[in-house]
Amino acid sequence: LILARRYTFSASHRLHSQQLDDAANRGVYGKCNNPFGHGHNYTLEVSVRGAVDQKTGLLLPTGSMDQLISEKITSGLAHRNLNDEVGYFQTHVPTTEELTNFVSARLREHWPAHWNAVLHRVRIWETKNNQFEEVF
Ligand code: NI
Repeated sequence: LILARRYTFSASHRLHSQQLDDAANRGVYGKCNNPFGHGHNYTLEVSVRGAVDQKTGLLLPTGSMDQLISEKITSGLAHRNLNDEVGYFQTHVPTTEELTNFVSARLREHWPAHWNAVLHRVRIWETKNNQFEEVF
């Protein structure tokens, strides 16, 4: 069985690669390369997979999941400037591709081994038209 739960957070970023010159950055990222940056209301969907616990009838208490996501993911991203305030993006361009990699790696690292549900998928919507996902 699979449970998918959604979370929202807002953050700002500027798309700029240290490995490209200014003209190439403007070419690749367009207005997203604007030096002043811009914000997004991101939606994060975390899916878990496992068997229903026969004692509770649940796959996983959603409160446990909410606490993990809040502590390890959204508290460190919400209302942040990703470029300046999140260490990972000192060395990675804060595209939603990289944000999805970042969130996936942190969830894998911190996923409690005793939970009977495993991480199944991480999806992030940057806008209603753009969505990225990592499937485990
Ligand atoms: Ni953007």
